[in-house]
Amino acid sequence: MLEVKKPLELIGEFKTLDTIIDFNHPRIELDMGCGKGRFTTELAKRHPDALVMGADIKLDRLRKLNGKAARAGCEKVEALHCLGWELFGFQLPDHSIDRVHILCPDPWPKKAHRRNRMLSSEFMYRVTRKIKKGGSLHLSTDDLPYLEWMKTVTSQLPCLEPDQEVLADIADVQTEFEMNFASQDKPVTHLGFRVLA
Ligand SMILES: C[S@@+](CC[C@H](N)C(=O)[O-])C[C@H]1O[C@@H](n2cnc3c(N)ncnc32)[C@H](O)[C@@H]1O
Repeated sequence: MLEVKKPLELIGEFKTLDTIIDFNHPRIELDMGCGKGRFTTELAKRHPDALVMGADIKLDRLRKLNGKAARAGCEKVEALHCLGWELFGFQLPDHSIDRVHILCPDPWPKKAHRRNRMLSSEFMYRVTRKIKKGGSLHLSTDDLPYLEWMKTVTSQLPCLEPDQEVLADIADVQTEFEMNFASQDKPVTHLGFRVLA
């Protein structure tokens, strides 16, 4: 039975996750804000040798991820109960992840709520620090103002180069939210980036 690991319980201890995750694994993927884990599980199925982490603040969603992964026979899935800022702020070791996916993050469309968006410029800088040089970043959204914001913030990070090729292996996979948006005729745009060596 897959268990949910709890980086959330480490908050205030300035501990990295080396004690609970094998960061020596040759390929590590991270789905930040994984929700119920449809995408995470598909990723694990396509890359059975990779360690695939799904991270979310909602425990019930992580339990659903573990259920899906178990049914698909994906043993190298790690469900992380955590907060994005703590995870990328210090809990993940620097340059430890091959590819980070942040898919359909909450757009907080009202101007007064924009400060709640996960993808602040500071957050994106931290994210790039955690990706291996030569690794990659995958963002998506259905929200056009958030898409413009993603493009602006990423263009300000000199270590990122737009590269849709980094998504070639998973271009046909939809997340749960993307499937919902598709049923409402709301297209989701995916952005791929290479982290320069
Ligand atoms: C809009 S849903 C998208 C879920 C999934 N990526 C998809 O596309 O189906 C955003 C997810 O991010 C999680 N989330 C939002 N803010 C977070 C934070 N600060 N730390 C961890 N998870 C967060 C939510 O619990 C939710 O599951």
